[in-house]
Amino acid sequence: MEYQNVKGTHDVILKEANDYKYIVDLMSEVVSLFDYHLFHVPVIENANLFQRGVGASSDIVRKEMYTFLDKGERLISLRPEFTASIIRSFNNNKLYATMDLPIKAYYHGPVFRYERPQLGRYRQFDQFGIEILGTDSLYFDAEAIILGYTILKQFNLEDVTLKINSLGDETSRNNYRHALKDYFKNHIDNMCNDCKSRYELNPLRILDCKIKEDQEILKSAPKIYDYLTKESKERFEHIKEILDENHIPYEVDDNLVRGLDYYSQIVFEFHYTSKKGFNYGAIGAGGHYSNLINELGGPKDMQGVGFSFGVERLYSILKDDDLLLDEQYLLDVYVASIDEEANLSAFNVSNLLRINGLKVDCDYIFHKPGNAIKIAIRKKARYLIFIGLDEINNNVLTVKDLSNQEQTQVKYEDLINYFYDKLGFDHKHIEEE
Ligand code: HAM
Repeated sequence: MEYQNVKGTHDVILKEANDYKYIVDLMSEVVSLFDYHLFHVPVIENANLFQRGVGASSDIVRKEMYTFLDKGERLISLRPEFTASIIRSFNNNKLYATMDLPIKAYYHGPVFRYERPQLGRYRQFDQFGIEILGTDSLYFDAEAIILGYTILKQFNLEDVTLKINSLGDETSRNNYRHALKDYFKNHIDNMCNDCKSRYELNPLRILDCKIKEDQEILKSAPKIYDYLTKESKERFEHIKEILDENHIPYEVDDNLVRGLDYYSQIVFEFHYTSKKGFNYGAIGAGGHYSNLINELGGPKDMQGVGFSFGVERLYSILKDDDLLLDEQYLLDVYVASIDEEANLSAFNVSNLLRINGLKVDCDYIFHKPGNAIKIAIRKKARYLIFIGLDEINNNVLTVKDLSNQEQTQVKYEDLINYFYDKLGFDHKHIEEE
């Protein structure tokens, strides 16, 4: 019987796994430049954290959570996102009272949503994101956007579209909700079922509808900008000025409302169409939240902002556009025994090199020299060492430079220094430490 992976999940293996590591490592480096600190939070949480955090009217809570009773009859969910968990951790650990604010956290790992799998949409996927907790300063809203933009720049992605919008404060949204209800009341009977339930639960979410006929109706719907309070409008304008001053291109999209309930004020999404013409949906998205920290048990009036990137989507566009690292060499040295009696020496030499910091492979069985060369090339080794009886008897090793096919004999005791010279001093010598 063949076992299939669960629908909507995928294996990340071999080169793709290296590419994911490259993506997460580069993002971690960039956020460290902005002084963010790594948070590891559990994959499972009490379900009510997300019911409260992400919001009862969101698609995530209504239909996408993996929720189950554990053996102690607790209602547990696999996290569908990180923001609520990071805030829970901020609140539980009372970081608001013990640390300088804001706390700037970053995180990465798997999240789970029971969505309909399609291009760029999985049921288990990886997110990388940041949260800035404990500030209402609009400079941090701008910092979050500029950080997201900087990350994409570091991957050499040109032509990223940054969409922004403001959802304003609670008064702005209440006024706007009324205006939308008024507008849609004559149309809603002819709209899709999702829109019908959104009309009742959260009319703003109707703006997110992707159905063509409904989009026609959306075109003449009232625009949120006209319902923003004076303060919300000023805040939005000020952030736009900061983005302009920092030469960050953006588009205002007044239908951008985001699918999670916790946002207020600015929201944003990064989009990109790969050179192959694929658009995998937003590659990253986020926004400001005014009440979430308090709603999840933290102090009043403590606000935050953050975003998350989808690692799968980022990987897909980088792959399409040939922007992933194609390392010329994956190994420093491949060691080949060319006599059965030399297997042990090959084993010993491989480990001597590894202990001294070189990246080495050896399969501990003897090969004909021609086969050994083929294997070393397939494995993308820079150097190949042959060890046969001649080498053992003369206390030397035959080293072949696979970049130019030059072959030389190196004394056993000179081997480490030989490679240190050839490969530069990046390789740490354990004895020197
Ligand atoms: P989100 O828009 O739900 O926001 O997800 C963020 C990113 O995760 C998306 O832009 C997309 O790249 C990726 N993503 C979402 N769903 C899928 C899926 N089914 N398959 C593959 N990738 C997906 C959040 O999760 C918020 N917590 C972001 C945030 C942080 N807001 C404030 N702080």
